[in-house]
Amino acid sequence: MKTTHRIAVIPGDGIGKEVVPEGLRSLEAAARIFNLDLEFTHFDFASADYYLKHGTMMPGDWEEQLTGFDAIYFGAVGWPDVVPDHISLWDSLLQFRRRFDQYVNLRPVKLLPGVPSPLANRKPGDVDFYVVRENTEGEYSSVGGVMFEGTDREVVMQETVMTRVGVDRILKYAFDLASRREAKSLTSATKSNGISISMPYWDTRVATMAENYPGVSVDKFHIDILTANFVLHPDWFDVVVASNLFGDILSDLGPAVTGTIGVAPSANINPEGLFPSLFEPVHGSAPDIAGRGIANPIGQIWCGAMMLEHLGYSQAATAIQDAFESVLAEADAQVLTPDLGGHGTTGILGTAIAERITK
Ligand code: NAI
Ligand code: MG
Repeated sequence: MKTTHRIAVIPGDGIGKEVVPEGLRSLEAAARIFNLDLEFTHFDFASADYYLKHGTMMPGDWEEQLTGFDAIYFGAVGWPDVVPDHISLWDSLLQFRRRFDQYVNLRPVKLLPGVPSPLANRKPGDVDFYVVRENTEGEYSSVGGVMFEGTDREVVMQETVMTRVGVDRILKYAFDLASRREAKSLTSATKSNGISISMPYWDTRVATMAENYPGVSVDKFHIDILTANFVLHPDWFDVVVASNLFGDILSDLGPAVTGTIGVAPSANINPEGLFPSLFEPVHGSAPDIAGRGIANPIGQIWCGAMMLEHLGYSQAATAIQDAFESVLAEADAQVLTPDLGGHGTTGILGTAIAERITK
């Protein structure tokens, strides 16, 4: 018997509303071909339209509304003309991440055929790794305060919070991922030469976790040289694990060196499956091109592949990925969107990819 997977679809704002239908087109094609039962339910909250109507980003009972879903397929949120960005983001996406304990932020970094990238002399296949970012604690804590505010004795402090549970669970996720991959290599981002309490602790937990994974080779870099190596030697990496702040930096840098933001996906994962995980492209709502039908749908489509992988359908996930890579490799200007150097539309590219999916 087929398992039904309930997926909450939240397109959000701007090009989110344009790329999500293309993502669904590929997911529906994959479901048909691989005989999967995906049930999509659409929600209009977490958007500026909802905010205009209701004065809030989300209904009071959003948690109940989303409980029981296996995953959230998210577009992009933000429309600065209507809602200030700190409200649109904090009152929607960040609530999901926290409430649903999505402690893993996973971003693939992969050089794709036909995608303009600042990396010279490298071909697709050379660069293919993951950034695993801790998504719930670390440097992004609200522990701290201000004393003597506004005086010349002003003191401002904000603490890094590392818990053993929090550090170990992200490391375990990263080691598990590395052990499933061919290269079986893990790189830890640290700064234990400068941040002398929390980062040595991080290093110790990495060394302890490594004892459980004798097949995985482990190295570490200080974050400063690591960012340089992302640009100079991106082919060195396989799985890179980092604290919240370092991971935030690396997970933007990775996609930036491999090409246009329009193709980059990300996942906010609760690995235990106690809560729904959320799959969203790296890009935002792109008000500058929204409404013109020229947004690149590949980031959103790739998110669909990550979602299927998370739900346990590796073959279907790979089929979606193969489909967009093969369409990209052909480099047909009629099909590719303008950010890829073509003059196709969101719909033309999305349809070409969905039609390319095969077993
Ligand atoms: P953005 O990612 O929306 O756009 C940055 C630039 O990249 C723009 O020039 C845009 O046209 C281009 N771009 C983005 N996605 C593209 C695609 N799929 N195809 C082709 N070109 C693409 O970032 P920006 O402009 O800083 O933010 C706009 C709004 O989106 C803001 O309200 C911001 O808060 C929100 N935002 C939301 C995110 C989310 O939902 N996770 C992430 C980033 C921004
Ligand atoms: Mg960021």
